[in-house]
Amino acid sequence: MKILPTPFRALVIGSSGTIGSAFMELLTNNPNCSGVVGIHRNSTYALDYQNPSSIETCANALATEGPFQLIINTIGVLHSADWMPEKRLDDLNAEQLIELMKMNAIGPALTIRYFSKLLDPQNSIMVTLSAKVGSIEDNRLGGWYSYRASKAALNMLIKTASIELGRTKPNIALIAMHPGTVNSRLSKPFRGEQIGRPAEDAVKDMFSVIENLQIEDSGSFVSYSGEKLPW
Ligand SMILES: NC(=O)c1ccc[n+]([C@@H]2O[C@H](COP(=O)([O-])OP(=O)(O)OC[C@H]3O[C@@H](n4cnc5c(N)ncnc54)[C@H](OP(=O)(O)O)[C@@H]3O)[C@@H](O)[C@H]2O)c1
Repeated sequence: MKILPTPFRALVIGSSGTIGSAFMELLTNNPNCSGVVGIHRNSTYALDYQNPSSIETCANALATEGPFQLIINTIGVLHSADWMPEKRLDDLNAEQLIELMKMNAIGPALTIRYFSKLLDPQNSIMVTLSAKVGSIEDNRLGGWYSYRASKAALNMLIKTASIELGRTKPNIALIAMHPGTVNSRLSKPFRGEQIGRPAEDAVKDMFSVIENLQIEDSGSFVSYSGEKLPW
């Protein structure tokens, strides 16, 4: 049985991003979505992964807006003004590893901790955007050490939380989702404009997958096409 009810309320975390803003647009125009709230680091209710305590504060502030039947977290970082993904072992450095763990694993995990309390215990889904390059089994090219490791850590955190929620809140599904290569700020330095799809197409595909999720899918790593990915 499909989890997402009609109508449903949604929350997009990272709604300032390329994929996040495309989800806002799609959900605003979806007649089954009775309301959508978007948050990011400069919104009225704000969260900044550089300041982990803002995650709990933001979730508490949003309590009256819930419950939500769908939460999508699109926050993620691949590069910064100071560094690009590592090509070789000699590029590996503590600063970049710590930073990406903070942005891609610790922040999203604490977001699951605090924002899962805003989910409808009757039937709801929390999707966190991961990346296929975080799959250990699928890693054939190497490189991108800290991004790969941070998304692999994220996947483990989602899987572990899904097992606990399966016992305590059995009608809530936690999903790790790969959006495919999307033309965005994040992919721009890696020929994103040439090889990436428009965010509108990616979110349409991801939403069709989300609409069809069943509770048995909780704790899985799913691609925008609906394919289950290896961890
Ligand atoms: N694009 C792709 O090809 C691709 C492929 C695989 C996976 N993904 C994943 O998809 C997700 C969305 O990526 P995107 O392509 O939409 O990237 P994007 O346009 O760069 O958006 C990234 C989002 O993360 C937010 N963010 C960055 N640092 C933050 C911080 N310290 N605290 C809170 N929010 C912060 C940004 O907020 P600001 O607007 O304030 O900067 C923005 O909302 C990411 O998790 C990414 O890893 C993307």
